[in-house]
This record gives sequence, structure tokens and C-alpha cells, in this order.
Amino acid sequence: MRNDIQKAVELLRQGELVAFPTETVYGLGADALNAQAVAKIFAAKERPPDHPLIVHLPLNSDLGRWAREVPAAADKLAFAFWPGPLTLILKRQRRLPDIVTGGQDTVGLRVPDHPVARELLAHFAGGIAAPSANRFGRISPTTAEHVRQELGDRVSLILDGGPCSVGIESTIVDLSRGLPRILRPGAIGAAEIEEVVEVPVLTGPGDEEDTPRVSGSLPGHYAPRTPLILVPAERLAQEVAARVSQGLRVAVLGREIQPGTRAEHDLFWQRALTAPAGYAHDLYAHLRALDATEADLILVERPPEAEPWTAVNDRLIRAALGSGADEET
Ligand code: TXA
Ligand code: MG
Repeated sequence: MRNDIQKAVELLRQGELVAFPTETVYGLGADALNAQAVAKIFAAKERPPDHPLIVHLPLNSDLGRWAREVPAAADKLAFAFWPGPLTLILKRQRRLPDIVTGGQDTVGLRVPDHPVARELLAHFAGGIAAPSANRFGRISPTTAEHVRQELGDRVSLILDGGPCSVGIESTIVDLSRGLPRILRPGAIGAAEIEEVVEVPVLTGPGDEEDTPRVSGSLPGHYAPRTPLILVPAERLAQEVAARVSQGLRVAVLGREIQPGTRAEHDLFWQRALTAPAGYAHDLYAHLRALDATEADLILVERPPEAEPWTAVNDRLIRAALGSGADEET
């Protein structure tokens, strides 16, 4: 076992916090069965206590130890996508501390696919409750350095597993009532899930009163500090020119370098990859870099509406809302 993983397992057993890499984003972990340890997560993140956490499990865990009902769809999805960027919401076992589930009757479970996370979970041999390792409402970390910037000495140990391969958070599927429902889009899309469960898959939060709370689906999430506005591709060059001529320092995330805008001063242009997986992989690092330019305004070229872009568009819309920019272009 790697020395740092040994150390991480000891810290978790002592009720301390450990940040670790997953294939989606870095997580801030604590022993899921230790309520006091889990409480430290909320303190470190400054996260409101009613927001539930995902419990991360080693591969081939007995889901019945965490969930009191494991529908056939859960077994099918676990078989198809775990380890991987998929979280299943199931009816919880009562032995779980309330603080993990935000007092709800359900629990989120996921088997991550990152060699460091998998080794950590295998040796810890239990559940690790972990939200993304950022301050509440801020951009999720996709490198160990991001975690250091977000949490510093609020975490006992940060395991460095390099940049996360997926780059945005897991797809969350609620299987706790009726038809499966995607509560948060991610790299695994609705069509892929539908193909496995062979029933219609609902999307969006639904209108039932008991809809589970998903903090990642609060309007203002994943947000930079600089106001961020989404701009249709065909209007980007014009919009940039207009803002620069107003004397604003502008930072741009575009999928193309647009002729005629790059040479302007007070302009930072970050080029994003043109395919959705690559775009998602880099998205949070790009938002951090754009935020760090101390521009007055971040302009993001709006990606296509097509299905492979669903998760990226979801995060960008929330980033715009959470940034406090009061306009949509
Ligand atoms: O990819 C990911 O899911 C990452 C990595 C670290 O695994 N984790 C992550 O955790 O994004 P967090 O806490 O930042 O977002 C988890 C989301 C929250 O929006 C939370 O409300 C929701 O999952 N969630 C957790 N348990 C739930 C439950 N029982 N019912 C409904 N939503 C739940
Ligand atoms: Mg989060």
C-alpha cells in the first residue's frame, strides 16, 4: 500500500478528514458511520447541514448494508457503470447517521473509478462520505492544488492523484420512488441509463413535495467570484468587442479563437476543447483560471444544446446564476 494511503486510512479511522481524487472531482472524505467525523465536513466546507452527502463504497460492496431496498434497476446500473461517475439514490438503512443523509429517508451511493480512490476504499473497507472538496457553492476541485486553495489546513491530508479524468460531478439517479429520475446530469447520459434499466428515465427535479434536495441543483452553484455571462457563439466576438470598448477587463472561454478580438488589451482568452468530454474535463480548471485573471467580467461561448452537452450546460448555467451576473445574453 502507498504510504499516503495507509496514512489516510488511519486518519479516517480516527475521525479525521481526508481529501482524495475521484475520476469526477476531488472529494472531502470522512468515515460515513462516524457522525462527528462527518460533521467536520460541513464545518470545513461551510455547507448547510441539511444537504446530504454521497457515500463512496469499494467495488462489490453489499448495497443492502447501506440501502434497505435495492431495486433491480440499482443492480443493473451498478453492474453497468460502477466503478464510474454514477450516484444512485436509494432508501437508506437506518443505521446511517442522519447527518450523512441530511435527515432524508434516502442515501446516495457511488463506487468511484480512480486508482487512488479505489485503493483507499479497499483498505478502509467501509463507506466514505464525501462531497466535492470545495467551499459550499464554489467551483469543484479537479486537482490536489485546487483542494489546497479551497480548504488549506481545514483538511488533515490531501491525496494527490493528478487531474480528474472526467472533470464534472457524477450523474445522480434517484431510484427511491417510481421511475428512475436524473437529479443531476453528468458524463453518463439519460439515453445510456435508459438502455440499461429498460424503462423511461425522467429528468429534472420533478414537482413532488418530497423531491430530495440536491445542493448541486441549487440555482447558484459551481460559481466563480467574477460575474459570468453565457453568450451565443455567433455573438461572441461582437459582445467581447462591446465590453472591451466600455473599458471592462474581459476574460473569455471560447471554443474558437475569434479573429480580431485576441489582440485587444485587457482581454484574456481561454480556448476550450470543441468536444463535450474534453470541454468537461477542463471546465472547472478553466473557470478557476478565468476567475484568477481579476477580469471584471467572464464571457463564455454558449456550447451547443445537443444531448452530449447537457451536463456541461447545466454547470455553466449554474455558474452564471451563482456568479451574481444579473444579465443573460
Ligand atoms: O462526482 C461526485 O458525485 C463527487 C465526487 C466527490 O464523488 N461528489 C459530489 O458531492 O459531487 P457533492 O456533495 O458536492 O454533491 C452531491 C450531490 C449533492 O447535490 C447532494 O444534495 C446530492 O448529491 N445527494 C446526496 N445524497 C442525496 C440524497 N439522499 N438524495 C438526494 N440528493 C442527494
Ligand atoms: Mg459539490
